Amino acid sequence: MENSPAVIEINSLEKSYGEGPGRIRVIRGIDLSVNRGEVVAVTGPSGTGKSTLLNLVGCLDNFDRGSIRLVQRDISSLSVDELSGFRNRHIGFIFQLHNLLPEFTALENVMMPLLIRRVKWKTARDSAMELLVRFNMEERAGHKPGEMSGGECQRVAVARAIVGEPDLILADEPTGSLDSRNSSILMQMLLELCREKGSTALIVTHDMTIAGMTDRVISMLDGAIVNI
Ligand SMILES: Nc1ncnc2c1ncn2[C@@H]1O[C@H](COP(=O)(O)OP(=O)(O)OP(=O)(O)O)[C@@H](O)[C@H]1O
Ligand SMILES: [Mg+2]
Repeated sequence: MENSPAVIEINSLEKSYGEGPGRIRVIRGIDLSVNRGEVVAVTGPSGTGKSTLLNLVGCLDNFDRGSIRLVQRDISSLSVDELSGFRNRHIGFIFQLHNLLPEFTALENVMMPLLIRRVKWKTARDSAMELLVRFNMEERAGHKPGEMSGGECQRVAVARAIVGEPDLILADEPTGSLDSRNSSILMQMLLELCREKGSTALIVTHDMTIAGMTDRVISMLDGAIVNI
């Protein structure tokens, strides 16, 4: 079932915030299909609903109308209990600010998605360390987020998102807080890992250089996709 080419299938999606005259329609009828292994950039002006779309695809928020199918599952059919397991197994998130757990080391942060999945501690540690080595971060493995630079934290966040080999990586301006050198290192690593693991990715970015590194660029305007 999970070998189907479409990892994301969105139909007639609508989402609004608020009620009555203050209601804002943020997603206004989006249709989108993304195939397995495809890396797609989402661009568009501020406030056009990019983060909202990503959060909906990431099962982090509810929508009003339409449907989202991820790896052939209608996410509306999942119970609250099923959702966390589904997210852990199928989705890796990368946010603009790394969202690492501050009291844990880089290595422990990367191991976390595997430990939640009850992977053996040694196996989780080996997989996490392998990624940190690839990111030239082995000397930072024992450091906590407060002891690392922004670029280093973001590389740890990418490693954490990908360590469980999820079907789908969702990244919301992953390089938004980085300088151009660190942005480029991060994106190259992310793309290389997606290609190697066959992960599908949806990457929100304002940076056209980064968008140009992906397979497809979609632009959003006023809650809709303006070209596919
Ligand atoms: N929780 C919320 N309650 C009410 N309105 C919201 C909420 N979250 C977002 N919005 C509104 O929805 C619209 C889309 O927001 P969203 O964060 O998706 O935009 P964006 O495209 O990601 O923008 P940016 O590029 O600035 O990150 C905005 O008008 C925003 O003010
Ligand atoms: Mg946003």
